[in-house]
Formats: sequence, C-alpha cells, structure tokens
Amino acid sequence: MKKILFVCLGNICRSPSAEGVFSNLIDKNGLKGKLWCDSAGTSAHHVGEKADKRSRLHAQKRGINLTSISRQFLGEKDFLEFDLILAMDESNLENIRQLDTLKKYNHKIKLISDYAINRKEKNVPDPYYLGDEGFELVLDILEDFCLGLLEKVKI
Ligand code: 4NP
Repeated sequence: MKKILFVCLGNICRSPSAEGVFSNLIDKNGLKGKLWCDSAGTSAHHVGEKADKRSRLHAQKRGINLTSISRQFLGEKDFLEFDLILAMDESNLENIRQLDTLKKYNHKIKLISDYAINRKEKNVPDPYYLGDEGFELVLDILEDFCLGLLEKVKI
C-alpha cells in the first residue's frame, strides 16, 4: 500500500480538495487496496474543522465528497508513515522541509505541481480570500496534478 499525504497551510481548502480529488481517482480506477491518501496543514489554526464550505460545495458539483477534518502535520510520525508528502505551494514545502531536521526524508517531500500534465502553475493558489473562481481554479489545477500523480504511482 502506497500512502500519500497532501499538505497545505490550514488543511481546510487546498489539501482537503487534493485528498478528495485523488481519493475519487483511486476509487474510479479500482486502486483502493494499492493507494491511500490523507491531508494535513502546517498550521494548527483550523484543527478539528471540516473543509471550508466553499471547497466542499465546489467539489460536490464535480461529484467529489470532501470528508476531511483538519489536522496539523505531525512531523516525524507523518514522515515515517507516508511514502510521499506533497506540498501545495513552495511555502508549505519549505515549512515541511524545516521539520525534517536531520534531512532524512528529503526523497519523500515534493511539490504537487511536480506531477503536472498540462497546468503550468508551480503553486496551488490559496483560495481562502478569493471568490468562487478561486475554488474552481484550485479544483481545475488539482484534477490535472492528481491525474499526473496517479499515472506515476499506480504501478
Ligand atoms: P488552505 O487555505 O491552506 O488551502 O487550507 C487556508 C485557509 C485558512 C488560512 C490560510 C490558508 N488562514 O490563515 O486562516
């Protein structure tokens, strides 16, 4: 079983959306026994909260259910448990790398945009203060990145 952790800042918008999009792909491709994913935030500000209502609404329109409850990235425990830790933007990436104090897990830590097929964005933009288009844009970007990711890890 390969385990993938999606990480953003608050774990209420981008990483829960990535988790939802990728879980949906796992189900649709019959890969439930082979792949598993979760999400977390580098900050503790929203711990215990469901994904942002707007993220849930826009995902639902695409047939994707966001079920996450926000949790903070756990450091060593998550570095050990997961095979891949995918940051939504370069700031999240830097924060995660700083928690890897002995630089043991560099090979597991990547930007999710490394898996892009067509999209050119390096960072998944934080939609928190944007309107509806921001949430749609995040899902458009994540659908591309997650398809690319699936192609790389499904073997
Ligand atoms: P996320 O978005 O990192 O995609 O979950 C954010 C949500 C809330 C805040 C920041 C980012 N905040 O500062 O409250």
